[in-house]
Amino acid sequence: MAKLKVFATHRLFEAAREILQKSCEVEYWPKEGRPPREEVLRRVKDKDGVVCLLTEKVNEELLNAAPKLRIAANVAVGFDNIDLVACTKRGVAATNTPGVLDETTADFAWTLLMAVARRLSEGEALARSGKWKNWDLDQLVGTDVWGKTLGIVGFGRIGRAVARRASGFQMKVIYTDAVRAAEEVEKELKAEFRKMDALLAEADFVSLHVPLLPETRGLFDAEKFSRMKPTAFLINTSRGPVVNEAALVVALEGGKIAGAGLDVYENEPLIHAGLKRANVVLAPHIASASLETRTKMACMAAENVVALFAGKRPPNILNPEVLKTP
Ligand code: DGY
Repeated sequence: MAKLKVFATHRLFEAAREILQKSCEVEYWPKEGRPPREEVLRRVKDKDGVVCLLTEKVNEELLNAAPKLRIAANVAVGFDNIDLVACTKRGVAATNTPGVLDETTADFAWTLLMAVARRLSEGEALARSGKWKNWDLDQLVGTDVWGKTLGIVGFGRIGRAVARRASGFQMKVIYTDAVRAAEEVEKELKAEFRKMDALLAEADFVSLHVPLLPETRGLFDAEKFSRMKPTAFLINTSRGPVVNEAALVVALEGGKIAGAGLDVYENEPLIHAGLKRANVVLAPHIASASLETRTKMACMAAENVVALFAGKRPPNILNPEVLKTP
């Protein structure tokens, strides 16, 4: 029997290729970097599946270009690049990679938090510059992390993994979410629920862990920054558009907040020029980028494709209604 055809917009990792090759004929994007849109549209034409990254929009345009498409397997947990309604309308299954990146992403939220509080970027630049003259009492003094209050916005798997790490730093953990966590979870993580405004007034570090949805787009705006402490830091490893970058720049310039650690941006890969300042630590969307985790993500996406083609339910299907037979 002829194997079903897949376009993978990245060469993926060996382990994921092995999973796919068992049951699919896969065309991999052969070059470094992301494929231009025209290439994606051209290569999905005769494909039954696409394995894509968050840089590819799976929208009406792509679906029109791929009349045979049965699955779009995203190698990411966030799926704001996928028009789920359009996929469902056409009976195209959409999948993501939840769970496997929680701990790695939480590690990185902490990396940013520590780096911005302790002025690591500035220290590293000085250490490499050859201009470091001597130890000095007030040189690059930052802010203590230990004993402070960590405010988590979005208390899902990643938010909770971030909270879990706070106990080693003897921090108080407060969180806000549309749905309050169960009592056992609050107890286990020693986390206290707060309404958003109360969290902003109390937290020394505000770490964002919400998905990008219509209701979270621009959630952190001038009003939110005005409610934060002038000594507080914002950490964002969720999605860039959750923060209004222009408002963040104004808040930083005006000393409304003390600094920020950012992994994600409103218009990636562009970074607002006003964010390139000493009290902001910038990373290029790498919170889940450990080899172990990125390999697991790619394998999960491959397994979703293989399952669908074998007539099974893809483990991470986002629109299971497409599986229902009339
Ligand atoms: C995701 O998975 O959504 C991240 O942004 C990349 O790991």
